[in-house]
Amino acid sequence: MRAEPVPLSQAPARVAVLVSGGGTNLQALLDALGSTAPARVVLVVSNRAEAGALERARRAGVPTQILRHPADAAELLAALEGDGADLVVLAGYLKRVPPAVVARFRHRMINIHPALLPACGGPGMYGRRVHEAVLASGATTSGATVHYVDEEYDRGPIIAQRSVPVLPGDTPETLAARVLAVEHALLPMVVVELARRGIPDQPVRLP
Ligand code: GRF
Repeated sequence: MRAEPVPLSQAPARVAVLVSGGGTNLQALLDALGSTAPARVVLVVSNRAEAGALERARRAGVPTQILRHPADAAELLAALEGDGADLVVLAGYLKRVPPAVVARFRHRMINIHPALLPACGGPGMYGRRVHEAVLASGATTSGATVHYVDEEYDRGPIIAQRSVPVLPGDTPETLAARVLAVEHALLPMVVVELARRGIPDQPVRLP
């Protein structure tokens, strides 16, 4: 998916991505944000030096930073403001964002979650556990949610969602793969649309 060219008068939005894992959502973002896109990944930050997402960033020539103390607002703020981030994207980031950072980036920090929030979200709900909970609930649909980050896990205003069917015989792994495929389309779409609108201060809800 290629975004529309950005007007010459408007510099691309500077996007910082927080990661903890393999980084397939980061990769989808890097692949979607071509040279004419209205947004550009300028920094990848992780709480884990061994995160595979960092290698994806390096391959793309994007600067990386490892957080020594993820609960330390000053360290994270220095990284984000130092790079002039306009938008912060949590893509598989597993640590709670310190409240001072949430406040500084209110409605400029988003997260992608592999379920249709508010269902199957909150503390401890990440990875396989999310899909186990969906299957245990008997839901016939699941999907992905992009929402604003606030002081609690997975609770901020929803920006956009895409659903997928839960199929008979699904395992957490087969459901996760189906959801991940829509995540990889949803996250870049939301980032591009927010950037096109100049990263509004007020919450946006996309169809
Ligand atoms: C994704 O399922 C995302 O929804 C969740 O963590 C996973 C990250 O996967 N927040 P990856 O590291 O982007 O591959």
